[in-house]
Amino acid sequence: MTASVKIFTLFFGIFVILSGTAFPEGPATGQCLPSQYDLEGPYYLSGAPLRSDIAGPDEPGQRIIIKGKVLTSDCRTPVSEALIEIWQTGADGEYHYREEGFRLRGQINAGIDGHYSFSTIKPGRYGLLRGFRPAHIHMKVTHPEYEPLITQLYFKGDPYLWPQDACGRGCKSNDPHRIIELDEKKGVLQGTFNIILTPAKK
Ligand SMILES: [Fe+2]
Repeated sequence: MTASVKIFTLFFGIFVILSGTAFPEGPATGQCLPSQYDLEGPYYLSGAPLRSDIAGPDEPGQRIIIKGKVLTSDCRTPVSEALIEIWQTGADGEYHYREEGFRLRGQINAGIDGHYSFSTIKPGRYGLLRGFRPAHIHMKVTHPEYEPLITQLYFKGDPYLWPQDACGRGCKSNDPHRIIELDEKKGVLQGTFNIILTPAKK
């Protein structure tokens, strides 16, 4: 990580923690509410390649598959062909950059029926200020007829979920909608994460 990125990350962390109290509580499981919005953060990069294998074949870490649906605000109707940009750390908690071939970054198109799927490795935790952030995967979801959404998903059982998250409530790791469980299916760890978009104002 470069010195400028470290400084930006420090100020970003302070900003998110201070602003965390302004964010609402996460929805209770089972409620139909739009996915909550996150700040883009210092690690987003535009222009990552289109690919559903976010981790290359030599990337160390536990292989996982994330799948789900992009849905409109009724939580039932699919949103066709939304663009999903994905970025995450490696298993060691480090982000990588454009110069490294957009390692652990990519973008995919959800299908006409709203379904999407990608394979990757489980990211690691990383230090922020005096604590740690839980493992997470960032996603930016765009579609011309919907408000853009930036979100991040977490993993059930992570000891650094809120209230231990160094980001406080600002990164919403207290939101049960974002905390997924990984189950083994046909020998592969898989998790489901549905994304609820809000129609754009006309
Ligand atoms: Fe992050």
